[in-house]
Amino acid sequence: MKIVILEGSPHKTGASNTLADNFIKGAKEAGHEVKILDLPRMNLNPCLGCIRQSFEEPCMQKDDGHILREELLSADMLVFVTPVYFYDMSAQLKIAIDRMHCIYHLFKDKHLKSALIATACREDAEVMKYLMDIYNGLAEYLNFEICGEILATGVEYASINENSKYLIQAYELGKNLKGE
Ligand SMILES: Cc1cc2nc3c(=O)[nH]c(=O)nc-3n(C[C@H](O)[C@H](O)[C@H](O)COP(=O)(O)O)c2cc1C
Repeated sequence: MKIVILEGSPHKTGASNTLADNFIKGAKEAGHEVKILDLPRMNLNPCLGCIRQSFEEPCMQKDDGHILREELLSADMLVFVTPVYFYDMSAQLKIAIDRMHCIYHLFKDKHLKSALIATACREDAEVMKYLMDIYNGLAEYLNFEICGEILATGVEYASINENSKYLIQAYELGKNLKGE
């Protein structure tokens, strides 16, 4: 299956993307096709809420939204990758999610698979609570089939310990995905 990775961390080689790399390694070994969207380094403006022509026309913005659209419409699975920023996802990832608004009717019935990879400094799992609420709400609304989460707590700024258990978890999540 085709997996689209929505990377929302500004740190290209930081903790979140390192976990995503491990997920990708496992997924590729399992035979899946992977496309990475490095959102902070794309030209994606926030949604303007125009509800263009009742969803009949493409987005009015002349930025990289067409790339996002193309990848979303050809995906079988979406993986949301983000550092926790004040109990929520990064703004870069939120922008991409908002920009799904005018096309979600085109993939909502496909029951895309989804996964979340999130990192936070705080040690305890409570720090993921609000992000998980948002993600679960999104998954329910867009009919995602949730395949798993990597919720990496106690992560240092912009890096992850090479012995971290989350690296193995991320690899195994990718490796053990079901689907052709
Ligand atoms: C703007 C900002 C807000 C943050 N808010 C939180 C937070 O609410 N809770 C927390 O545990 N860590 C917080 N952090 C720390 C990051 O979540 C943590 O360093 C993360 O693992 C960085 O991932 P990265 O290497 O992919 O950028 C914040 C960091 C920044 C820059």
